Amino acid sequence: MRLGVLYGIVLGLALLTAGCNAMPGDPRSGPPIPPDQVTDFHILYNRNCQACHGANGRNGPAIDLANPEYEALIDDTTLRRIVANGMPGTEMPAWAQSAGGMLTDAQVNALVAGMRREWARPNAFAGGTPPPYAQNQTGDAKRGQQTYQARCASCHHTPAHQQVTSPVYLSLVSDQMLRTLIIAGRPDIRQPDWRHDTPNGGAGQPLSAQDVTDIVAYLHALRNPDEVSAAPLSNAPRR
Ligand code: HEC
Ligand code: HEC
Repeated sequence: MRLGVLYGIVLGLALLTAGCNAMPGDPRSGPPIPPDQVTDFHILYNRNCQACHGANGRNGPAIDLANPEYEALIDDTTLRRIVANGMPGTEMPAWAQSAGGMLTDAQVNALVAGMRREWARPNAFAGGTPPPYAQNQTGDAKRGQQTYQARCASCHHTPAHQQVTSPVYLSLVSDQMLRTLIIAGRPDIRQPDWRHDTPNGGAGQPLSAQDVTDIVAYLHALRNPDEVSAAPLSNAPRR
């Protein structure tokens, strides 16, 4: 699995760099900084995040953290919680030592503050109001299927594009990641945001919060086929 391999590389690199830092007598940089004392955002990001989220937060296999719409969509508490605890059941690891990761609280805080400083932009939504980050309604998978056909399939029906409805793809990503992606888009790979503006700059027909929730319910049902008949989809953040 692509992301699994990457995780190995990241850990390997982190250990290697830690080893270099600990090397005594580097004349260029004065006394070495122990790895758990590093609070420089760029060093922390490059060591721990860039293999999956891309150099400068773009063009990695996992979502682009440098997308200003993403930074505007997610609040500080949630962002910090995800960096600290990871996204259980996905390739996104926990980073806080309290959750079994490698970073101190000060380092987790430095990452969150750095992402905001470098990548947030005022008025990222240009006056539009996106659906909320967290799902707060109940989704309807049937309606979601229709909305998917109408709003997503036009780009995603060809083999050249991500086969979003493939259970193999869906088994790699959480409902929240799908929701995040549909709302904030991924400008680095040309996935539109919820406004669905056309690629040549024309204004699109925005997806409503209910549309987004329904599409995620549809994709959730494709991933977890045994649940569909058993119970209505709840809005709990499940995979
Ligand atoms: C205007 C074309 C277009 C539309 C409409 C569109 N997408 Fe995409 N989407 C893309 C492109 C381009 C990519 C980049 C990967 C690729 O080429 O398949 C992508 C990637 C994705 C990915 C993979 C993201 C990742 O990080 O790997 C998902 C999931 C996705 N789209 C879901 C959707 C859903 C759900 C909808 C409908 C709400 C939708 N897309 C509508 C163009 C589109
Ligand atoms: C091994 C690959 C990997 C590494 C390393 C990694 N991430 Fe992630 N990250 C992911 C994946 C995959 C997801 C989406 C998981 C899902 O399906 O929900 C994700 C999700 C996230 C999200 C939440 C996205 C959302 O939907 O709101 C944040 C924030 C994030 N990562 C930040 C970081 C930061 C900061 C670092 C470095 C400290 C980091 N990640 C390192 C793979 C990685």
